[in-house]
Amino acid sequence: MEILASAPGKTILFGEHAVVYGEPAIAGAVNKRATIKLREAPRDISIFKSDDLGFEAELDTVAKRYTLKKGKPGIIKYILEILSKFHDHSPIEIDLSLNIPIGSGLGSSAAVTVSTLAALHKYHGKKFDRIFIAKKAHEIENTVQRMASPLDTRVSTFGGLIYLSRKKKITKFNTNFKSSFVIGYTSKRGNTGRMVKSVKSLKNRNPTIIEPILKTIGKITDDAKLAITNKQEYRLGELMNVNQGLLDSLGVNTNELSRMVYLARKSGASGSKITGAGGGGSIIACCPKNQDKVFKALTYYDNAIKVNFSNEGVFVKEIKEGLNDNFEDWWKYIN
Ligand code: MEV
Repeated sequence: MEILASAPGKTILFGEHAVVYGEPAIAGAVNKRATIKLREAPRDISIFKSDDLGFEAELDTVAKRYTLKKGKPGIIKYILEILSKFHDHSPIEIDLSLNIPIGSGLGSSAAVTVSTLAALHKYHGKKFDRIFIAKKAHEIENTVQRMASPLDTRVSTFGGLIYLSRKKKITKFNTNFKSSFVIGYTSKRGNTGRMVKSVKSLKNRNPTIIEPILKTIGKITDDAKLAITNKQEYRLGELMNVNQGLLDSLGVNTNELSRMVYLARKSGASGSKITGAGGGGSIIACCPKNQDKVFKALTYYDNAIKVNFSNEGVFVKEIKEGLNDNFEDWWKYIN
């Protein structure tokens, strides 16, 4: 039996850092995905490989160890954790294709974790249960990363653009918000834990200054919710710019992020801001027009990727005999 499962990456549009103090956030699944093919291994050893990432490793799922045959997969820790918890140690082969750039802040590890869990559950004949997958994927991320936001795995599992309320209730926007975005990222990855700590320390030292800033980010997120519902992309851009100023005031901006933020605006984005924790990592630019122009400008100095929000969360299918081995065919098959 061969199983195919696929899950999207995500991006945070509003509410970074403020969400840690109970303010709302807006995040969404994007049209970049991790796709897993899982089958019985041809030999008596489990294999994890990816042509996209240029690696192959043999796995010892009992000892949670691996032997590299080719390349260097950082993502392997997630796979070993999943297999040790949810697999019976029989030899399997896992083939990953990933069109989410690693380190871009687009939640590649969550997408790989969610899709692998979904594939493994189907392989073992278990019912496809998104709530279970989201919960277990978060636990896996927490074990491997120590501190993981449940938002990444939740968005990757369910898809769509979501609003996380002050009461931690998640609602999907039921608008067909089609705007185009560009994510810009440098090779310097942000360290979420460190940035969260540094904002906390700033807030503790200056509570009367920082608390209103975090509250204002919450208000911006609420206005952004309205702008999305009403499909106002220029208003959304304006709110992104104001939010960026406040993120800067929290000390999570860097020279490189700032350069990308201003370059995106100069190239015609309606707004741009850091996405994620900052201190490295990524920016997001809203591009109702000029997506190509913004993309080109950002790739001149840094890396960038064009994205749109996507309603498609995780899906899983058994591969039928005779079907071509390529994703396009799969897409037709499942739709
Ligand atoms: C990081 O992607 C977003 C933060 O708000 C942390 C979190 O919500 O876990 C900075």
